[in-house]
Amino acid sequence: MQAPIAHDPSSYANISAFVTTHLVLDLTADFGARVMSGQVSLSFERRDPSATELVLDTRDLTISRTEAAIGSGAWVETLFKLDTPTPAFGSALRIVMPPGADRARVTYITSPGAKGLQWLTPAQTAGQKHPFLFSQAQAIQARSFIPLQDTPAVRMTYDATIRTPKELVAVMAAERKGAGAGVFQFTMPQPIPSYLIALAVGDLAYRAMDKRTGVWAEPSTVDAAAREFSDTGKMIEATERLYGPYRWGQYDLLVLPPSFPFGGMENPRLTFATPTVITGDKSLVSLVAHELAHSWSGNLVTNATWSDFWLNEGFTTYLERRIVEAVYGKARAEMEAMIGVNDLAEGRKTIEVARDRTLLPDMTGRDPDDAYSTVPYEQGALFLVFLEHRFGREKFDAFLRRWFDSHAFKSATTEQFLLFLKEQLMATAPGVVTDAEVQEWLHSQTIPAFAVLPKSDAFERVERARDAWLHGGPITALADTTRTWSTQEWIHFIDSLPRKMEPSQLGALDRQFKLTDSTNAEIAHVWFRLAIANAYTTAYPAMERYMVSIGRRKLIVPLYRDLAATPAGLALAKKIYAGARAGYHPLAQDTLDPILGLKR
Ligand code: BES
Ligand code: ZN
Repeated sequence: MQAPIAHDPSSYANISAFVTTHLVLDLTADFGARVMSGQVSLSFERRDPSATELVLDTRDLTISRTEAAIGSGAWVETLFKLDTPTPAFGSALRIVMPPGADRARVTYITSPGAKGLQWLTPAQTAGQKHPFLFSQAQAIQARSFIPLQDTPAVRMTYDATIRTPKELVAVMAAERKGAGAGVFQFTMPQPIPSYLIALAVGDLAYRAMDKRTGVWAEPSTVDAAAREFSDTGKMIEATERLYGPYRWGQYDLLVLPPSFPFGGMENPRLTFATPTVITGDKSLVSLVAHELAHSWSGNLVTNATWSDFWLNEGFTTYLERRIVEAVYGKARAEMEAMIGVNDLAEGRKTIEVARDRTLLPDMTGRDPDDAYSTVPYEQGALFLVFLEHRFGREKFDAFLRRWFDSHAFKSATTEQFLLFLKEQLMATAPGVVTDAEVQEWLHSQTIPAFAVLPKSDAFERVERARDAWLHGGPITALADTTRTWSTQEWIHFIDSLPRKMEPSQLGALDRQFKLTDSTNAEIAHVWFRLAIANAYTTAYPAMERYMVSIGRRKLIVPLYRDLAATPAGLALAKKIYAGARAGYHPLAQDTLDPILGLKR
């Protein structure tokens, strides 16, 4: 018998009566109709012997049949009712459960606008010949392609059959069991929360990188991807030395088309990644370190509710920097941490709900996606950096490893972490960290004064070069200095330039360094923001192509926001959006619609 489960305000599932243990999925991808159809069978641990109703989460699903069974007994058709949907959570599906029934089977079809699926035309892929489909379940979109208990408080194993047009390949974040023409079988032997269920279908090829790592991508990009990510094996070894064995068997990456709305998604055994990190120089592979780190912080020990999201992302951002330090050195890790602190300050400015500026947002009645920000990432990571400094790295590393080991394959609340912190760390060295300091980390809308902030000598050199040039120094001197700059130094340089500059200064930079034509998506991003701040219209055609061709929210949302701040900019933003919207993921559309004055 498991312990009682935390209440999750983001789910309608009645998990005090039924707890999912296993799923069997059989789904067919129909690219013509843009729907998936088929069946899911769910097995439960019954926690309330007298319960007569099972409540599942759904969103925009059409349900044609529900059945129930006791153990391995026969399926019996049963009645169901679909509640009126709410915008935040979708519709509760209420299924009548006969006495003793502990299995349910639902026959259904998704909607073409399913929030957790993106259907791409051939034109939106690298190969231009075949359509593409991918899922994105985190935070609460699994319910838009599977009726289930869509809460991270519940973990399940699964088996799946995915049927596709026969020229396409299906992959899942699971172990592959069989692949024939148009029929693909998978199994997920480790219990996972629903938000980690993931699939993709397209013209996909595979390249092994080493014994347990490899890359899936469209044939035309798979070799470049395998080169870019060739340090993945080293990253896994570094993480294992710090936090214990990698427990998921294989670690592969799937490179998606550019409309993928995130940088990466830590789907177990198969990280989903944006192609915008493939630069040719491995300069953005901290993304891999991040998604890999989730194999410990997140996938192994999972936030019990979306209010505890910082337990996933703060821990992972901390681990990410430790991996980068181990594989690429302290200087690179510190530069990335400084960029993170700058993003935190910048990000906090755009947050409207006060509690979303703290580590403990209130998720009652709202889609967790509406609370998404850098705060859980960077404030969370700074909290752990602070603990590391106070207790010493050796002690803190052992503590974190114990946290992962003792909570492996479980979901955890912030409260449980605080208890563990008190017992396992604070009590061993009284007075080193006070309760008041811990509370301030959780509830403060700013970085606490006692935080340990990153410091980068490299960035100080960048700032000196910047100032010399801004004060009239020759661009040739700047060009000389920049010769050895990494991507991170370029990002810091551009981001730390004054928001109001002379057109001649921007032109000089652009001519010297070809920034408008940068093929590094992160450098281009900060440059376009500077261009918008100065109405440097020379950069606009390239920026427009960028905004149409990339769907990664972090890279495009700030550009739309910046443009929307002036009437002329807003007019341009609307024009760009009119051409770009159909190619964006439903989640990106949801974020952008209100910025462009479209109602949700
Ligand atoms: N799990 C997140 C992505 C996510 C969070 C998707 C919440 C949906 C809801 C992933 O691990 C992540 O944080 N990705 C970052 C990249 C990372 C290097 C900070 C991203 O996509 O920008
Ligand atoms: Zn993450």
